[in-house]
Amino acid sequence: MIYQYNFPTTIRFGAGAAAELPAYLSAHNLARPLVVTDPVVAQLPFFKTIIAGLPGAVVFSDIHKNPVKSDVYKGSEAWDATNRDCIIGIGGGAAIDVARAIVLRIHHREDLFKYDDLIGGDVYVTGEVPPFITIPTTSGTGSEVGRSAIIADDETHAKRILFSPKLMARIVFADPLLTMDLPAPITAATGMDALTHNMEAFLAKNPHPLCDGIALEGISLIRDALEPAVNRPDVSNRSKMLMASMMGAIAFQKGLGVVHSLAHPLSSLLDTHHGLANAVNIPYGMAFNIGGFEDRFRRIARALELPDESGGAVVDYLFRLNDSIGIPRRLSAIGVRSEHVETLADLASADFAHPNNPKPVTREDFKQLYLEAL
Ligand SMILES: NC(=O)c1ccc[n+]([C@@H]2O[C@H](COP(=O)([O-])OP(=O)(O)OC[C@H]3O[C@@H](n4cnc5c(N)ncnc54)[C@H](O)[C@@H]3O)[C@@H](O)[C@H]2O)c1
Ligand SMILES: [Fe+2]
Repeated sequence: MIYQYNFPTTIRFGAGAAAELPAYLSAHNLARPLVVTDPVVAQLPFFKTIIAGLPGAVVFSDIHKNPVKSDVYKGSEAWDATNRDCIIGIGGGAAIDVARAIVLRIHHREDLFKYDDLIGGDVYVTGEVPPFITIPTTSGTGSEVGRSAIIADDETHAKRILFSPKLMARIVFADPLLTMDLPAPITAATGMDALTHNMEAFLAKNPHPLCDGIALEGISLIRDALEPAVNRPDVSNRSKMLMASMMGAIAFQKGLGVVHSLAHPLSSLLDTHHGLANAVNIPYGMAFNIGGFEDRFRRIARALELPDESGGAVVDYLFRLNDSIGIPRRLSAIGVRSEHVETLADLASADFAHPNNPKPVTREDFKQLYLEAL
């Protein structure tokens, strides 16, 4: 069964939804898509099947694991050179973010980072954008329903955010069958990213009951589905994770927090996968947040169906969940060394995510959290 949701954009959700793409394109008189993906997904059988159904497609897959500005420029050159009429992002958060940044660049040709939302660049996003379609193949970032793209500077690796409501996909084909063969370590890391989005959004300081409701249900779905999706994947647990990852991205319109600020510098400095960086840091970041927010943690504990509703029990659950899906308890196990800590603390305190954390986080706090997790 395929369901349709029209929130926050049109979502065709269910096993087999991706097969509807050719009919959608012809119904909208679109025949020459630029399909943006990454070099790994480009080789997968399901991707080849999708492309076989799109005779007019040009594929662009020359992107980095943590995407950079030059990836976006190369993609827009592919658009210029080949007379395209729409953009389809197929892949994880990295590929979909690059696709979204190319969507922006087609009619906005100043330096890409002029449009950086953190320096008020969203006001320059005034032009048209081409039709944009997303097809997620991981269950983590929820970028398919997002309005922003995270792209790093080629030299400094600093992450910049491009944002505009215009950058939301016109339609999402969310098909759990595309995630069935996602390897266990990627399922685990991306799933923990989705959990981090839902938990940080629920705790973020701005009042937003709509997002809170979505976040709690997202947490509950992940509680049911993440461990089995890693260890015993089936369509049911893959569907729940795909839904929960979209819910996380919807909820984090409210804001993120300390865990994402701990995670981002690991990707910038050490090229760590975004989800893995969140996964290892989340128990420590959540422990930091408990004091003064015990009521919020009680609600998270209920969503997780924990018999003990304390913040400490939530943190214990996170460590045990990580154990059960092969995520290490320590940053040293993913390549962080004590000599990295000062630089990581500098980058984390400059990061965009923690100003929405329920309590303020100082540079010293970041340093302590890294040392604790080391
Ligand atoms: N736009 C946003 O709101 C937002 C939010 C959070 C993170 N991000 C960004 O998203 C990126 C991370 O995205 P991600 O966690 O989805 O990881 P990813 O896109 O880096 O994909 C992880 C790996 O899985 C592979 N892969 C993807 N689908 C697969 C499949 N079905 N089968 C087998 N392998 C598959 C990819 O090739 C890649 O090697 C980061 O660049 C991060 O900055 C964006
Ligand atoms: Fe994230």
